[in-house]
Amino acid sequence: MATKKKAVRSKPSGKKSNTIRLKFDTSWSYAPAPESKSAATIDKQYDLFINGTWQKPLSKKYFSTINPANEEKLAEVAEASEADVNKAVDAARTAYEDVWKKMPPKERAKYIFRIARIVQEKARELAIIETLDGGKPIRESRDFDVPTAANHFFYYAGWADKLEYAFPNRRTSPLGVAGQIIPWNFPLLMAAWKIAPALATGNTVVLKPAETTPLTALKLAEIIQEADLPPGVVNILTGAGATGAAIVNHPGINKIAFTGSTEVGKIIQRAIAGTNKKATLELGGKAANIIFEDAPLDQAVEGVINGIFFNQGHVCCAGSRLYVQESVAKEVIRKLKDRMESLLVGDPLDKNTDIGAINSKQQLDTIRKYISIGKKEGAEMYESSCRLPGKGFYCRPTLFTNVAQSNRIAQEEIFGPVLAIITFRTDDEVIEKANNSPYGLSAGVWTDKGSKIFNMTKRLRAGVVWANTFNKFDPASPFGGYKESGFGREGGLHGLLPYVQLTS
Ligand code: NAI
Ligand code: MG
Repeated sequence: MATKKKAVRSKPSGKKSNTIRLKFDTSWSYAPAPESKSAATIDKQYDLFINGTWQKPLSKKYFSTINPANEEKLAEVAEASEADVNKAVDAARTAYEDVWKKMPPKERAKYIFRIARIVQEKARELAIIETLDGGKPIRESRDFDVPTAANHFFYYAGWADKLEYAFPNRRTSPLGVAGQIIPWNFPLLMAAWKIAPALATGNTVVLKPAETTPLTALKLAEIIQEADLPPGVVNILTGAGATGAAIVNHPGINKIAFTGSTEVGKIIQRAIAGTNKKATLELGGKAANIIFEDAPLDQAVEGVINGIFFNQGHVCCAGSRLYVQESVAKEVIRKLKDRMESLLVGDPLDKNTDIGAINSKQQLDTIRKYISIGKKEGAEMYESSCRLPGKGFYCRPTLFTNVAQSNRIAQEEIFGPVLAIITFRTDDEVIEKANNSPYGLSAGVWTDKGSKIFNMTKRLRAGVVWANTFNKFDPASPFGGYKESGFGREGGLHGLLPYVQLTS
């Protein structure tokens, strides 16, 4: 021990220094461990999945989806027009009236179980396609997205014939046709979140995946066909904003379920005002991760890293604001920077990769815009020194210190691997700062004291508060936000409610 101390001490100036610098060594690297693409089949062109069959778009239009990791085209997918939406809603209506709402719940459950099992069987292929189409690391799609999607189908299949226990002493009836519009950050998982509770409660579905990540939803259509779901119960239409708007505005839609930007959420709310359509909106977030001085700091740092950098920060509940108690701020920031240096950014198909590709050029531009706003606002930027691949859309993990609460990087959703750090001294101060946000989707608290956790969770205006962990999901837990993060809950028992009419 003594000799070690001697070794790191500098000699007085003037004499030749023999200081040994114990620097964090980032020079080591892993050998590449890429997942094979050969386990996945992607067609050259996809049509629309309407009434249980693949139909050419009436629009006659197709668009490309690319791999954001290398900008190569993966496939062409149909662009559904208003006329295509009409066809899909008609098919969903007929399936609803003639088949699905009349079917005994335990029969409906069997179909949903079947979908869940086929998703599990095809897990490897689905994970590869998710990573190719969206840019997220294969580790994420393999270990989180796909298994959690299967679990959602299993979970809601279990509820289908038990609705009388979900809503005791109430009668439930389905709403009709649900229009579901999903984003690009969890393409298959969001489809499962939306489709599973709708089917379990007896509704039929018209679902639109995001334009940059349509492929796993189209694979899910193949799975639905294989599961022999009655035609028209689930219809999957690809397209961009105009297709989404046509679904929202269709008079035959009874319920809208949307996940995406707050901006589009507001457009949807305006569009359905004055109609009988019900809606759940899951919008943006600006989650606060709060580290108290008594927290297990290494564990907290790992949680912060996981919360904002893994999955490229493309998570609505990403812990994009870090509030750290002043007494430990220096230490936490140093540990964060060290850990950032060891994060592997690159090929999403490589099993070692921590941070994959940003989903689109447009999203990368947004992230870069916010990084320059942060600098202009006077915050201090630090980014890891890793090399980025020459092609594709990538962003280094980045953090800002000296951030003011009013800075745009502390207030607005960036949806990228960018962390804003603010210090605090007291509980009251951090509650005020954490709640000072237009959003309220999620938060994290890191402390050794159980009483503090309960005190904080009570006072934080966020739909989910994680304690000494972050970004944990389970189909049995409800998820949803306050304020501009939207309304309605998905997951768990609560996730059934938006799809039923209750009567006594
Ligand atoms: P977006 O809200 O435009 O896209 C989400 C979905 O809505 C896509 O399927 C899109 O085609 C559809 N859509 C677009 N315009 C529509 C309209 N007028 N009517 C109906 N559907 C419509 O999100 P975008 O532009 O891809 O991302 C912008 C920002 O939104 C991101 O930077 C991020 O801050 C936030 N976002 C939040 C998500 C979340 O999970 N809460 C997911 C994706 C984006
Ligand atoms: Mg794509």
